[in-house]
Parts: sequence; C-alpha cells; structure tokens
Amino acid sequence: MADLSVTVNGLRFPNPFVIGSGPPGTNANVINKAFAEGWGGVIAKTISLEADKVTNVAPRYARMRAENSKEVIGWQNIELISDRSFETWLDEFKKIKDAWPEGILIASVMEECRRDAWIEIIERCQEVGVDAFELNFSCPHGLPERKMGAAMGENPDIVKEVSGWVMEVAKIPVWAKMTPNVTHIVDPGRAALRAGCDGLAAINTILSVMGVDLKTLRPMPTVEGYSVPGGYSCKAVRPIALRMVMELAHMSNDEFPGRTISGIGGVETGDDAAQFILLGAHTVQVCTGVMIHGYGMVKQMCDQLEAFMDTHGFEHIDDFRGASLPYFSTHADLVTRQAEAKAAAKARRAGMIEKDTQWEGDKFVEQSDKLVSND
Ligand SMILES: Cc1cc2nc3c(=O)[nH]c(=O)nc-3n(C[C@H](O)[C@H](O)[C@H](O)COP(=O)(O)O)c2cc1C
Repeated sequence: MADLSVTVNGLRFPNPFVIGSGPPGTNANVINKAFAEGWGGVIAKTISLEADKVTNVAPRYARMRAENSKEVIGWQNIELISDRSFETWLDEFKKIKDAWPEGILIASVMEECRRDAWIEIIERCQEVGVDAFELNFSCPHGLPERKMGAAMGENPDIVKEVSGWVMEVAKIPVWAKMTPNVTHIVDPGRAALRAGCDGLAAINTILSVMGVDLKTLRPMPTVEGYSVPGGYSCKAVRPIALRMVMELAHMSNDEFPGRTISGIGGVETGDDAAQFILLGAHTVQVCTGVMIHGYGMVKQMCDQLEAFMDTHGFEHIDDFRGASLPYFSTHADLVTRQAEAKAAAKARRAGMIEKDTQWEGDKFVEQSDKLVSND
C-alpha cells in the first residue's frame, strides 16, 4: 500500500497535506484540531510584530457559485494578516508544539522592509520551537499599502534582500510564498532561492474584483458602500496555480536541485493534490477548501491520493513527483509531433508500417512503429 509520508527540507510530514495560511490556522484551538484530524502540517495565519496596525473589516469574503448548483467555485477575500498580538502567537506556538511535538508547525511571517524587524520576528519564533517559516511575500491587498506582502513579492530585488536577512538568522527551513500577481513568477522565485531559501510556496491569491451589485451599483464585497480589489482563491484558480507551480518547478529543478515547492490553489481532493505533485510539488496546501469542507476533509484526500498511487504502483510520493514535467514543450514542437503522427498514421493505413509487438510474459504489448518493406 502507498506510503503518503514525505520528508521535505529534513522535516517529516506524515502526509503531504498542509493547512495553508489563513482562517483555518487562525489560533491554537483550530491548529490543534487540524493536527487531531491528521493534517500533515499546519501553516499558521500570517503574523507580524505590530498587530495593532492590522484592522479587519466586514464583510470581507465574497463567493462565486456555479450557475446550476450552489457549489462554491471561487472565493474572494479582503482579509488582512492576523490581528492577534505577536506575544499571544509566541505563547500559542509553544503550547501547540508541547501538545503536538511531531506535528509540523510552520510560522507565516510578514513585516515591513526593515532588517531588524525581520530578524526579530524570525529569532523569537524559532526560540519557541516552530519547525519552519513561510515568508509571506504575497498578500495582495491592504498590506501592500504599507509596502508589505505582494509589494515585496513583485520585486525580485526586494525578495532577495529580505530573504537574505531571514537566512542570516534562520536555523530551520524557510519557504518563500510567491504572489501570482506578476508577469513572470519565476523571477521572484529565483531571487528567493538565490538568497538561500529552502523552498517556495505558490500561489497566494489572485488580485480580483468579485463583481458589482446590480441593484446598488456598488462593487463587492461592499463595506459602507465601498470596496477594494481582493484575493481570489478556491478551485477556479487551480489551473493558474498548476501553471505557476510547473514553471517554478522547472526553474528550481534546473538551477537549485534539492530545493522544494509547496503547491497551493484550489486543492479539494487527493486527485487535485496528485496533479500538483506530478508538476513538482513536495507538499500541497489547502486553505479555502478547509473553510468550505471542514478539517475532516484530509482523511478523504489521503484515501484518494493513496488510491491514485496504488493504481499506478507508486509506493512513495517521491516516485511520481515531477513525473509530468517533461511533457511540457513548445507549440512548434507540438506541431512537429502532430505532423509526424499524422504521417505515420497515413503510412500505416497505406500498409507500409505496422505496429511492432512484443510478448511480455502474458500479453502482446505494442512497441514502436516498424517499417514494413514493400518488396
Ligand atoms: C480568507 C483567506 C485568508 C488568507 N490569509 C492568508 C494569510 O494570512 N497569509 C497567507 O500567506 N495567505 C493567506 N491566504 C491565501 C491562502 O493561504 C492560499 O494561498 C490561497 O487562498 C490559495 O489557496 P486555496 O485555493 O486553497 O485557498 C488567505 C486566503 C483566504 C481565502
């Protein structure tokens, strides 16, 4: 039977399913619940040193539903990072690690562009025993006004500089979380890895306008009649996330062998996770899915991933990570391949080529095309 455990940057995850930073990791109570339900790891809601600068509004979520059902397919949020104090979080991190010493607890951190602030937040979090860091270079709304989050993540030079400050003091693995709101995600990704980060996480939410209320003519979600563009997530973003993970994996495998990727965006099933892993992800994060389906969804996802692995005879996650990457090519190459395939089919129809078959113990298996002499 398939073994779902995976070792990433020296950390052993019992399965590759990790709670993505957001409401499902918003305090110790829910993080404890996630570990109790069997999640492979938890990334806490993003924290900063000065939570009193963070003020949330309501409503801050808007949902996109499929036309013929009530199914939520897209989710927009204008939520900021945690508004709970840094001291509260340090206390809770320590208590969570005391309760779940084997659980992989990852602190998501975000700060202003000040070296001393980043060094303080990293040093104090690692003192209380968190297992790794995720650097939030990616929150697309609210915080960029303070030059934080995506304001950093869209600038490779700043990503490199800030990641460098973190790597000066980090004694545990560090992942840099990428914003999809850039033209080439590979550029900030490469900058983080050049600075020494152990891995990348992608994607955070996609900057979006959810819609306009046709009665009031106001954009949604509407707060006192006004709105701001927010972050889009859920299954609607999965194709974009898969594309970006694929691009990051190609770059990382070529230029930084041994670094890792955590795939995020619209994961709700084991099959979704399998696709991220086939495109190079080592772990897979779920945020909106947990808000919709609850923490217990991890059991079904594990069963589905196991079934996928059993079907293909994969014993370990490592057996199929990145297996689909070689099958991306250029459009010109697809044209050539298709022309060759058509020519071969035509030749076969004309009786010039037949499939070469080979006996493999109990059945004939088709091999390459074999040219049949007309003589
Ligand atoms: C309501 C909400 C709050 C979020 N807060 C954070 C956050 O504090 N830090 C962070 O790095 N990402 C945050 N995210 C982004 C998610 O971690 C994730 O990158 C994104 O939603 C895509 O994954 P999903 O489709 O599984 O939600 C948030 C997402 C949502 C929906």
